[in-house]
Amino acid sequence: MEITDQKVTAYIQGLYKPLNPFLGRLRAEAEARNIPVIRKEIETVLLTLLQIKKPKNVLEIGTAVGYSTLCFAMSGNVDHITTLELSENSCREAARNFEEAEQSNRIRLIQGDALETLRELQSESKAPKTFDFIFIDGAKGHYLEVWELCKPLWEPGTIIVADNILFKAMTAADEYLDTRRNKTIVNRMRAYLNHVTEVPGVITTVMSVGDGLAISVIEG
Ligand SMILES: C[S@@+](CC[C@H](N)C(=O)[O-])C[C@H]1O[C@@H](n2cnc3c(N)ncnc32)[C@H](O)[C@@H]1O
Repeated sequence: MEITDQKVTAYIQGLYKPLNPFLGRLRAEAEARNIPVIRKEIETVLLTLLQIKKPKNVLEIGTAVGYSTLCFAMSGNVDHITTLELSENSCREAARNFEEAEQSNRIRLIQGDALETLRELQSESKAPKTFDFIFIDGAKGHYLEVWELCKPLWEPGTIIVADNILFKAMTAADEYLDTRRNKTIVNRMRAYLNHVTEVPGVITTVMSVGDGLAISVIEG
């Protein structure tokens, strides 16, 4: 089930304006093809955070066709984005979109399993070595592993945003579980939230927006 009241969500979505015509078109095309892109309400939260933080280096886990990547790139508040995607087809499409939007020079797209790529990024000697904004939007069962692998890549003040964290309310209560298969994901989402709300040196807020958003800030 949706975690927010549908009329309230429809009202908030009605207030949404795309950042520019290119992104408006890309969202419409992706939604028409059932390609996952951040929800409108999540986009506005992210753009607000970017306006406050003005990050130099963003790390994104889960590119799909590059819609959220281009939101970061075209926000006017980000210098460089590294984005990780497993699917070769999605990478090809994302790379085309980055070219078309004339943003390729500021985006590093890495194809492969993010868990592997994050290990490689840790051992890379080239800049950027640290990221001041991290967006976790990849495989739902791997958020805590991604968090652990990101540790050497962040710095004091880094913001880590995890999308879909309430997973259609199933994270909040077992009675909302739709299939047994999702129980593993739900347990892992709970493990992520337990960790990021308990671990010292991190401030986390869990927001009932979109499909649930956890925003963590590394103290320092
Ligand atoms: C929700 S979509 C990303 C949407 C994108 N952030 C946007 O808003 O435009 C999740 C993406 O994560 C990718 N993904 C799943 N498992 C992955 C993994 N192990 N490593 C990297 N990417 C993965 C999927 O292929 C999918 O394209």
